[in-house]
Amino acid sequence: MRRLNLALAERSYPILIDGGLLSRADLILPFLNSARVALVSNTTVAPLYLDVLAAALEKVGVGVTPIILPDGEAHKNWESLNLIYDGLLATRCDRSTTVVALGGGVIGDLAGFAAATYQRGVPFIQIPTTLLSQVDSSVGGKTGINHPRGKNMVGAFWQPKLVLADTDTLKTLPDRELSAGLAEVIKYGLIRDLPFLAWLEANMDGLLARDTELLAHAIERSCANKAEVVAADEYETARDGGRALLNLGHTFGHAIETGVGYGEWLHGEAVAAGTMMAVELSHRLGWLSAADVGRVRTLLQRAGLPVIGPDLGAARYLDLMSHDKKVVAGSLRLVLLKALGEAVTCADTPRDEIVAAIESCCRE
Ligand code: NAD
Ligand code: GLY
Repeated sequence: MRRLNLALAERSYPILIDGGLLSRADLILPFLNSARVALVSNTTVAPLYLDVLAAALEKVGVGVTPIILPDGEAHKNWESLNLIYDGLLATRCDRSTTVVALGGGVIGDLAGFAAATYQRGVPFIQIPTTLLSQVDSSVGGKTGINHPRGKNMVGAFWQPKLVLADTDTLKTLPDRELSAGLAEVIKYGLIRDLPFLAWLEANMDGLLARDTELLAHAIERSCANKAEVVAADEYETARDGGRALLNLGHTFGHAIETGVGYGEWLHGEAVAAGTMMAVELSHRLGWLSAADVGRVRTLLQRAGLPVIGPDLGAARYLDLMSHDKKVVAGSLRLVLLKALGEAVTCADTPRDEIVAAIESCCRE
């Protein structure tokens, strides 16, 4: 088993990565405050994996309350959040109940926000089942829901007690979802880990073929990068750089997700096209060479990801981007690349250059 630690003093927690972890209730038991969990999942993941996890927990004496939500990014909203509160209240879950998220990033973000707010906060465990959630969303404590005007606009920081990534669950993940997860994996290489970027270039075919060892390595290296960044800037308050760097491509990507309607583009797909916009802009500012741009484009395409965004029009992109959480006092802070493997936040990018980068990534 691969084991990492997110170092946050008294709120530190382990990230465990291996096959077969869903039936390892012994790993979960030490993190519970009482013999009671609320297991939040969705209509796709629950039929696949809820029984094996619930049976393992019940076998060691833990009572399980399942709360099953509709599937999809379009359901990452108040209605689903209320379904979680309804389930917790109807079964008289108290402050010692641990909320367990079993699913992808949508379930993790929803269940985490419910845990942060139910009775002013109850313990939370992440059991991510998509590549994207195993490499990114389950780690770091960002939770929340979407608003029709903007992605993840309502939420809370609420760290889990434990992250359990069972790599066997990736066997049932649709190809398109695997590719979406690879967008966030590639991100770590681009922002801070050039050797990992080269490793991804060398191993992309094996990752797409779902080689277990390669996937486990990619998850471990991604989580190690994320854990380092989050430990240094948990609440994304660093003036320059810090946790905000994890959002490479996300300001453009969130505009795509909101602009086309939640669920039309997968989060990872929008991040991929958004990353190309950030890379193109970094080239226009003289930081990346044309060869660098080509290298990123080739890797994203090999991962099965889009490199051209939907043609919303640059004005609509800019309007949607103005709602970004990295906007401070009306000024948009973009994550750009000084070089491959070296990201920076940039508050004074000329508008014309942003427009040109968007337009060049919306045309074939
Ligand atoms: P998702 O949760 O929608 O899951 C993708 C699809 O795969 C869903 O249909 C899901 O039901 C299905 N699925 C999940 N596990 C499966 C499995 N093992 N086998 C078969 N099907 C499975 O999407 P996602 O890509 O996991 O997460 C995207 C979300 O994560 C977005 O809402 C994004 O904003 C959020 N996110 C959050 C953070 C964070 O730090 N909190 C970071 C990145 C992304
Ligand atoms: N996904 C970006 C972050 O966790 O900060």
